[in-house]
Amino acid sequence: MAEVLIVDSQDEAGAIVAREIADLLKDKPDAVLGVATGSTPLAVYRALEQLIKDEGIDVSQVRAFALDEYVEIDPNHPESYRSVIHREVTERLGLNPEYVLVPGQNATSLATAGQEYDAAIEAAGGVDVQILGIGRTGHIGFNEPGSSLASGTRIKTLAAATRRDNARFFDSEDEVPIHCITQGIGTILKARHLFLLAFGESKADALAASIEGPVTASCTGSAIQLHPRATVIADEAAAAKFDNAEYYRFAAANKPDWQGL
Ligand code: GLP
Repeated sequence: MAEVLIVDSQDEAGAIVAREIADLLKDKPDAVLGVATGSTPLAVYRALEQLIKDEGIDVSQVRAFALDEYVEIDPNHPESYRSVIHREVTERLGLNPEYVLVPGQNATSLATAGQEYDAAIEAAGGVDVQILGIGRTGHIGFNEPGSSLASGTRIKTLAAATRRDNARFFDSEDEVPIHCITQGIGTILKARHLFLLAFGESKADALAASIEGPVTASCTGSAIQLHPRATVIADEAAAAKFDNAEYYRFAAANKPDWQGL
């Protein structure tokens, strides 16, 4: 089972994950980060930016791979995930832009882009820490319901609910791309440590289904139950539908240093 931490605020969650990543970067200056878009991980990036400054952490060798990207979008569009990652991760943390990759970027063709991306992650030594948000359809990355739990990076069609949710970043829902290229569930599960973050009541159903429901392609967030080192961090609102919240709080309050996940 994943370790579940219920926190009071997004900033508290951000501080926990940022501390973990900062310690990793001190031990392993060429660590590989798996980074996500959306509003959920922003608190992590803000806290990490501060730790990098305060503790003078060298990030010149750090590599980062994004989870997903839209297909029918100009990469220079401010809401392409390449632009978002550049703003929120590369520039904020001071990473070398040449070491930050978004799916499909530099691909020789759309047909081979997924395999090329997975090969690039492997060539970098694999992802050390993967940050994940969750969509209301229970998706991680853009692995909509029905995605293979063994999938590699590939092109997918977005669910109507996801396009509606993401319309807030565009002038209208029609402008939201129909296709995406996303790391597969199999790709995500290869990362050495997963952090799944969820905030707000709109995530409560998807989060409870992912952590306490059956492992199923109908809710791809549930695949994290298959991972040996997954940490889930939720605020009270996102944790509201858990059956076992009391146990998670008890376990977190009584976790000795020697206990793993
Ligand atoms: C998009 C992204 C996901 C992200 C989800 C939630 O669909 N592809 O990676 O987790 O949105 O977004 P937010 O964090 O803004 O709620």
